[in-house]
Amino acid sequence: MGYKDQIDLSKLPKHVAIIMDGNGRWAKEKGKLRIFGHHSGVNSVRAVVEGAVDLKVQYLTLYTFSTENWNRPKLEVMAIMELMVSTIHKEIGNFMEKNVRLQAIGDLEMLPQKCYNELMNAIDKTSANTGLVLTLALSYSSRREILSAVKSIAGKVQRGELKIEDIDEEIFEENLFTKGMPNPELMIRTSGEYRISNYLLWQIAYAELYFTSKLWPDFRKEDFFEAILDYQKRERRFGMTSEQVN
Ligand code: IPE
Ligand code: IPE
Ligand code: MG
Repeated sequence: MGYKDQIDLSKLPKHVAIIMDGNGRWAKEKGKLRIFGHHSGVNSVRAVVEGAVDLKVQYLTLYTFSTENWNRPKLEVMAIMELMVSTIHKEIGNFMEKNVRLQAIGDLEMLPQKCYNELMNAIDKTSANTGLVLTLALSYSSRREILSAVKSIAGKVQRGELKIEDIDEEIFEENLFTKGMPNPELMIRTSGEYRISNYLLWQIAYAELYFTSKLWPDFRKEDFFEAILDYQKRERRFGMTSEQVN
């Protein structure tokens, strides 16, 4: 029996976040340039999107490029941006067919103009789709996101639109890039690294973490289903006792 058949469809996570890591090492293992790994990683993205659509997961958020990734060699950064432009362009038809709505979070104005335009075009074209919400974290830093929320809240207080004592978790979340989205119940990281690397720090407070040694270009639908199955075996206690949640 495949992993998919064992998944309890009534207990799906609403939101799965993924740190897609290991493209460079995958390419290196094959004696190729790092960018070859990024290209191959696109196939994994397609597979995981398909898997999420199959299961009717509502939100999938992919860590595609971090703010820190701007510090990589210029050639690699440029190649990733080019890859993004061509991939987004090619995938629009697929998104329409699968009823996927594309979104992006991060400092998007830092993206090269061509990349930004292609992204906005795809977001616009898919905006009426009602299936999976696919969010790309691009030029994304969770700490920056939190700081920008703090600044926007401080501005509201300064202008007298909000009282300090009224600031609560709900208001804070409304000022994050992920506004309107549920927090991820499951966070997956590939490539055997056990860290979060500045991803959705506020949002993953109670997420189940799933780590796999598979490198991102080797990750497929079955691996995605396996992670969801593993998630379903966990007991989420939210600070309570096992007896209380059962
Ligand atoms: C993830 O793979 C893709 C991006 C961060 C853009 P890496 O490029 O980080 O691959 P490794 O971790 O060096 O193997
Ligand atoms: C995290 O991977 C960012 C993305 C997957 C886009 P990195 O490879 O950049 O993270 P570190 O350097 O291992 O923490
Ligand atoms: Mg990496």
